[in-house]
Amino acid sequence: MTYIVEYMTQQHRCCDESFAAAEEAVSKQNWSEASAQMAVFSRDLGIHFTNEEEHLFLAFEEVSGNTGGPTSVMRVEHQQMRGMVESMTQALQAKDADNYLGLSETLMILMQQHNMKEEQILYPMTQQMLPDTAAVISSMNDL
Ligand SMILES: [Fe+2]
Ligand SMILES: [Fe+2]
Repeated sequence: MTYIVEYMTQQHRCCDESFAAAEEAVSKQNWSEASAQMAVFSRDLGIHFTNEEEHLFLAFEEVSGNTGGPTSVMRVEHQQMRGMVESMTQALQAKDADNYLGLSETLMILMQQHNMKEEQILYPMTQQMLPDTAAVISSMNDL
C-alpha cells in the first residue's frame, strides 16, 4: 500500500469494527466478548495514534514547519479519546452497561469527527507534501 490516505483510512475502519463489536456485546451484556473486543480496540487505537503522533504528524510538522496547526489539534483530541477509552474500560470492568454505552456514544461522535478531518484534510495534505510517503508508511505499524 503506497498511499497515506488509503493506509490510514483502513486503520480507522479496522478500529471501527472492534469498537462496534464491543458496543454490541455490552448491549447484550456479553461481558467476556465485550472485554475481548475492547482489548482489540484499545490496542489498535493505541497503535494507530502512535503511528500518527510519532511518524505521520511528525513528518507533516517537519515538512510544513508547522507544529501549532492541525496536528496539535489532533494530538489534543487523541488525549481526549484516550481518556474516554480508559473510562470505558473501567465501566466494562464494573459491568456497568449504561455508563459504558453513554461513553461509547460520545466517543463514536468524537472519533467520527476526528477521523473525517484526518481523512478529508490532514492525510491528503500530508500525502501531497511529503517527498517520500512510502518511507513514512513503512515506518508505521500495521494493525
Ligand atoms: Fe488521529
Ligand atoms: Fe487517525
